[in-house]
Amino acid sequence: MSESIQKKEDDSLRLEEIMKEWDTPEQAVLPLLHHFMEEKNYISDADVARVSQMTGLTVSDILGIGTFYQHFVFHPTGKNSVRVCLTTPCLFRGGKELFGKLSETLGIGLEETTPDGLFTLYPAQCLGQCSEAPSFSINNDIYVGTSPEKIPGIIEEYRHGKICQTVVPVGEPLSNTPMVFTSLQSAETVYIEKYLVKDGYKAFEALLRSADGDRALDEIKKSGLAGRGGGAFPMYRKLEGVRKNPAPRYLVCNADEGEPGTFKDRYIMERDPHSLIEGMAIAAYIIGAEEGFIYIRSEYPHSSMILEKAIAEARERGFLGHRILGSDFSFRLRLYRGAGAYICGEETSLINSLEGKRAYPRNKPPHLSEVGLWNKPTEEQNVETLANVPAILRNGGEWYARLGDEKSPGTKLFCLSGNIARPGLYEIPLGMSLRSLIEDLGGGVPGGHRLKALLPAGSASKMLLPEHLDLSLDYPSIAKVGAFLGSASVIVMDDSVCMVDLAYWIAAFSHHESCGQCTPCRDGTEDVYEVLLKVVRGEGKPEYLDLLKSIGSYMREASICGLGQTAPNVPLSSMEYFEEEWKAHLVDHVCPSGICPMKPEGTLVFPTRRSRGIVASLPQVHFSVH
Ligand code: FES
Repeated sequence: MSESIQKKEDDSLRLEEIMKEWDTPEQAVLPLLHHFMEEKNYISDADVARVSQMTGLTVSDILGIGTFYQHFVFHPTGKNSVRVCLTTPCLFRGGKELFGKLSETLGIGLEETTPDGLFTLYPAQCLGQCSEAPSFSINNDIYVGTSPEKIPGIIEEYRHGKICQTVVPVGEPLSNTPMVFTSLQSAETVYIEKYLVKDGYKAFEALLRSADGDRALDEIKKSGLAGRGGGAFPMYRKLEGVRKNPAPRYLVCNADEGEPGTFKDRYIMERDPHSLIEGMAIAAYIIGAEEGFIYIRSEYPHSSMILEKAIAEARERGFLGHRILGSDFSFRLRLYRGAGAYICGEETSLINSLEGKRAYPRNKPPHLSEVGLWNKPTEEQNVETLANVPAILRNGGEWYARLGDEKSPGTKLFCLSGNIARPGLYEIPLGMSLRSLIEDLGGGVPGGHRLKALLPAGSASKMLLPEHLDLSLDYPSIAKVGAFLGSASVIVMDDSVCMVDLAYWIAAFSHHESCGQCTPCRDGTEDVYEVLLKVVRGEGKPEYLDLLKSIGSYMREASICGLGQTAPNVPLSSMEYFEEEWKAHLVDHVCPSGICPMKPEGTLVFPTRRSRGIVASLPQVHFSVH
């Protein structure tokens, strides 16, 4: 048999396997498209026709789904995809210089391909390596802390055919002494044998022996554990809500950690994957779910490989599968890969994506506990939340609650990045002061600079100032000053940061990631971006302050989901706290920090929907800039 016929047959077999692996033809669409991307780094018309024929969906359905996700490319592109992180923590630590060097070395700009067809340069929106910024990736290989001088040598290796090895830096261990996440100190528990030595799966085994789901639920209730993905909704209430609704019920883990500055879930998945799997098995038992999914972002190929292996190990040891350890309980766990969409961190968007649709948010109510995956009751929880569960069951809910304070029990993983002496991942008791985190653990702002401001929740929350340092790090205390903790990605900014430049990059991020479903967010993020582009180019006008406030309030009030509602928070709080800096840009056309170019040349411009002409024919509420 010729090589090409053999390859065709292998390919057909693999495609059939993918179809069998998933529950509906729609759900197989993303995995099929991933298959073609892995094969040649783009999806051809023939591939689309093949997916259409295999799934029974129309070509227009496939394109409608596929083009929603940034990871999929539907035209010939460079053999190697270079993705450079242009998100705040990386930008504060040399990201712009890194981008400049990559662009110069390759001789191309954003979303362009080199004439030899070897490289395409894309913007990346956080690769989850923020404590070791700046970062970029080539295919699945991740580079961190690279100085610009090294770029030509690295590119040369790929020019000469370097094969992608899905290499990810191991990263530093947890930066302080952990209380719950003791396994994060080393990467040893990535192997099930090591996890078992540390009492791994003991809590799940005890639960199966006792068959007492009520007691397990009660321990979670006593622990006060709240959703660690950002929502901070008590876990036990979600579990109660789902288990009272009729079967079938599903359990879904949200591993779509896309908030800039957040990398805690990646640490758990890459260093302690079995605590997540055990936590899911326990949660599934409590709600009576026989099927579970981990939805993971495509930017985490290394985490995906580790989880796949860990799930297989757990299955081989009998902790997953049919009639687990001889009990009546069966639980099948599968990993589903996203394809580059920040919006999938929003629970209802994630469910739509898991069903194989565009990841548009759903209106709530109904809540997922009633109408979730395939309209069935669904428990959706974040990686960190679920990974806490085995320790809670082993040590008791009261033990966990006492680790924090009355208002916010337990501990929380904080990601510290930006202009800080010791960036990294810290597990701290909720209730510790922000000052202790920044100064005692993080070592304060380095290089003789002073602290200017902090973003407590990546790009989403209103910013905090040095005067807020004595705030207690718990959900209610942070809420009192109009901010929120979200997933606790604390980005530190020193006095070299320009607050208008910051607003520009946050606006670029929000616009890039808006799913486009609702007008206030789709057009609002684009309007804010376009206004700020004018400002950093020195074309601002004093009336833009009111214009931005008006767009921002419209977005906050009328957007369907959290993305549009929170996107104005950083730009508006920057205007509130640093009005003089804004006036210097808008009235005097000067950037006091010397960061903004204040002229059209030298501004890195993001392609937008309007500039690409994608939505030219759609009705728009358009805020005109005079
Ligand atoms: Fe660049 Fe997270 S890796 S901001």
